[in-house]
Amino acid sequence: MSAFRFDDWETAAPATPAAIAPLSGEPAAPGPAALPGRTDDNPSPAHSLAPVNAADKRIVGGKTDINQLAPFKYPWAWEFFLKANRNHWTPLEISMAQDVHDYHHKLNGAERHVFENVLAYLTTSDILAMRNIGLAVMEKMSAPELQIYQARQVYEEALHTWTYQHCIESIGLDQQEIYNRYRVVPAIHGKIALANRRLERVMRPDFDLADRDNLHEFALSYFFFAAIFEGCWFYNGFTPIFALQRRGLMKGAAEQLQYIMRDEVLHCAFGIRVVRELLKEENLSLDPSALKALWDEAEAAESAYAAYILRDPILGYNADLHTRQFRFMANRRARQVGLAEPFPGAENVLPWLDEQANLRKEKNFFETRVTEYQTGGALAWE
Ligand SMILES: [Fe+2]
Ligand SMILES: [Fe+2]
Repeated sequence: MSAFRFDDWETAAPATPAAIAPLSGEPAAPGPAALPGRTDDNPSPAHSLAPVNAADKRIVGGKTDINQLAPFKYPWAWEFFLKANRNHWTPLEISMAQDVHDYHHKLNGAERHVFENVLAYLTTSDILAMRNIGLAVMEKMSAPELQIYQARQVYEEALHTWTYQHCIESIGLDQQEIYNRYRVVPAIHGKIALANRRLERVMRPDFDLADRDNLHEFALSYFFFAAIFEGCWFYNGFTPIFALQRRGLMKGAAEQLQYIMRDEVLHCAFGIRVVRELLKEENLSLDPSALKALWDEAEAAESAYAAYILRDPILGYNADLHTRQFRFMANRRARQVGLAEPFPGAENVLPWLDEQANLRKEKNFFETRVTEYQTGGALAWE
């Protein structure tokens, strides 16, 4: 019998797996006739597939063939994938030697407290980010160009976790203690628990997006992860370490975070774009009272976190600045989705943050090792 070729659309596949000889010592698999609902009347679909029409694609609930990339309905999603591939690095390529010295000999107690707790928060957060996009979001998307960028995002979140692990390991922190910290420090646990609750709701096995309430819950959850979790908490979350970097401290760790931040800016922008398209396609709007509750609990969690990590201020940075910058970022994210600002009048109290996070400028300024991975046009900064 000739072997069945995957790219052969003319010859029918073997009628039953049993027709393929089992490996010696293994029992033959049961044939499809044993599967419920299967009849011999089901024809091969090879000759009845209509071309995919881009207009038929949808963010969720689409009926077109998800295995066919083009024609694109969301060409911007493909552009995101191309952009993401311009930011390649691994944590091993950035020297942490000076950080080891800084941590043990230059940082004071308050600065070490900030540094350790930021890492403890971030490392748990990135695992949540990976699980959200890979397990809760990607499987609900029904256009391949969306899933392809999200697949890259899943990898990047794993890379970020590796990066934190590399920092923890290089500096010689107690891994067991650092990784367990979110379970014993209420202010860290609060942010993680809030995100975990949202994630678990949209990962229920019976969560059907044909139900409008569920669809709204999913849109709100995606908004939370993209605009708040990544767009505010991550963005703001790196800031205390950038504050050290501005004083010439922990520059290796800060450089690692700059690479991560460049990914996160794209994750946030992509997620916001998907949410906007989803709301438009589904003629859906986010419930103002649900949004207010979301912003309020996000702000409360962030304030408690800031009060803990910055219980003693460090030079040039304190808990009040952190919380006020969160509100400023929250307004920016809300505007990007076309929503009202949750914290009217919030000011940009850290005007250096956007610039500090820009990898290119800081590389020249601090004369750190030149590892310029971006090979294409500039990544949009917002
Ligand atoms: Fe991440
Ligand atoms: Fe992310």
